Amino acid sequence: MEESLSERSVDPREFRIVRLDVDPWPEVLRQFFARQDEADRSGFFLGEALLSELKWVDVAEYYGLVRPKGPGLVGFMGAWFVDGEAEIHHIFLEPSWRMKGLGRIFLRRFMQYSAKRHVVSLYLEVRRSNERARSLYRKLGFSETGERKNYYSCPLEDAILMGCRLSGDVPVSCRDGETPSMEGDLCKDSAAEVCLDEGKARILQ
Ligand SMILES: CC(C)(COP(=O)(O)OP(=O)(O)OC[C@H]1O[C@@H](n2cnc3c(N)ncnc32)[C@H](O)[C@@H]1OP(=O)(O)O)[C@@H](O)C(=O)NCCC(=O)NCCS
Repeated sequence: MEESLSERSVDPREFRIVRLDVDPWPEVLRQFFARQDEADRSGFFLGEALLSELKWVDVAEYYGLVRPKGPGLVGFMGAWFVDGEAEIHHIFLEPSWRMKGLGRIFLRRFMQYSAKRHVVSLYLEVRRSNERARSLYRKLGFSETGERKNYYSCPLEDAILMGCRLSGDVPVSCRDGETPSMEGDLCKDSAAEVCLDEGKARILQ
């Protein structure tokens, strides 16, 4: 059934980004995983291994997308930062919050944050059949650099490798002395203009 305009609309200014490795977020994330359906839990590795990565892997940073007015945590993403590179391990939104432009804004915020941290290359892997994610990554400047046969299980599937060099088209303005941060309003600093434009574009569709 076709969604109505109001069901598709979302105001990106209502969302905040939080770091997920501090209380109460690890437990909130555990409950978030438990709410997802079995196919998403196994297909996107939403479980205890990821929760221990938050706790034990120093180079891992995980961020939640939160709507304080409710329902709280609506999605999350995480990456490992190593020597000027970041590898995105997860980006996942609750099904009812997908296709509203939020994934794009969340990822752009992450790209801006990475650029401010002087990351030069971003990498990720994606299931071959995941057209929505591949299309989003291409639109944000990623290109496909290779593949790994039968890389994923549950279900068995090839991985497509994608990469992006961060350059001038990702605003990197950072005031002197400012420590780059991913936390705070989703529409923050240099991301605000893009964020509002993309939210407006989606609402006008
Ligand atoms: C992938 C994901 C994070 C994208 O977030 P999203 O909020 O749904 O995506 P957006 O609404 O921001 O859409 C961004 C782009 O996705 C693409 N897209 C959206 N729906 C699509 C569809 N059904 N088919 C193909 N492309 C689609 C479009 O390119 C869209 O760009 P547009 O705004 O110009 O139309 C989200 O859908 C999700 O959590 N999916 C499940 C988990 C997942 O697949 N994670 C990626 C693992 S590598």
